[in-house]
Amino acid sequence: MPFSTAEAFAPATVANLGVGFDILGLALDEPGDVVIAERTELPGVTLANIEGDGGRLPRTPSKNTACVAAQSVLRAAGVKHGARLTIKKGLPSASGLGSSAASAVAAAVAVNALLENPLPKADLLPACLDGEAIASGYHPDNVAPCLFGGITLAFGIRAHQIVSLPIPSSLYLVLVTPDVEVPTAQARAVLPATVPLRQMVKQTAMVARLIDAIYRGDIPAMSAAMEGDEVIEAARAHLMPMLAEARTAAKASGAQGLVISGAGPTLCAVCDNPEAAEDVTEALRIVYAEAHIECMARWTQVAVDGARVIRAQ
Ligand code: HSE
Repeated sequence: MPFSTAEAFAPATVANLGVGFDILGLALDEPGDVVIAERTELPGVTLANIEGDGGRLPRTPSKNTACVAAQSVLRAAGVKHGARLTIKKGLPSASGLGSSAASAVAAAVAVNALLENPLPKADLLPACLDGEAIASGYHPDNVAPCLFGGITLAFGIRAHQIVSLPIPSSLYLVLVTPDVEVPTAQARAVLPATVPLRQMVKQTAMVARLIDAIYRGDIPAMSAAMEGDEVIEAARAHLMPMLAEARTAAKASGAQGLVISGAGPTLCAVCDNPEAAEDVTEALRIVYAEAHIECMARWTQVAVDGARVIRAQ
């Protein structure tokens, strides 16, 4: 008997890793979104409820990333039944933590668990991307690590174009999310349409340096390469409150580097030990407190596992 209800968790993600715009990303241990899918005899996907979004996310299924991903899984599986979703948001939207991707991925994984013959994870990637595309277009830098876990490099949007990179064991990440919304569409609209050849060469070199540093587990080189982006951060910096102050404070407290997480405004500081991560978390809290901006700061590590079913019956 296939399951009639399934609940799935999908983690927050940090996209870009600074210089790797739209191609690199990593999954975090926490927080994340949960989606409960219930099987319905009627075809199609309906939305029962969204909890924890303060009423901000679209309730119309065709405009909701989770519903679009769920519908895409049902279509790919060729089944006649439908699903009703309840979304429990653990991630703030428009914050740079892959919130829209997490809802899409959790929905795809939950609905997949209702199938008589669930699809392998790699086959869920197109559905997750369909969902994420509603929010910010087709780029897998959040969706891939969210679905598969770890650190991923995407050189295309198909599963065989996603590769997993090794996770440096002493990598600690501090995330600070100021209480400011930066919709991804807005953060993409400010980007230059073309870059000079000199910048292209520098950006390519820094991505290559970053991949090399990740393979060697060299956190200082990794952080320097992440910060080597001269294209994306320069265009978006004005949308990120306290970016320069946060970088200075984080480094003074032991961080190796600091970059914008995804499209921001969350900032991600890189540390090589838990004590530094703790100190940097506190230092970043103080930066925003002094600027009278509410924030959420925490440190965490890369999640080896991506989205998963946490309950099915
Ligand atoms: N790579 C994306 C961006 C991440 O920076 O716009 C957000 O989806």
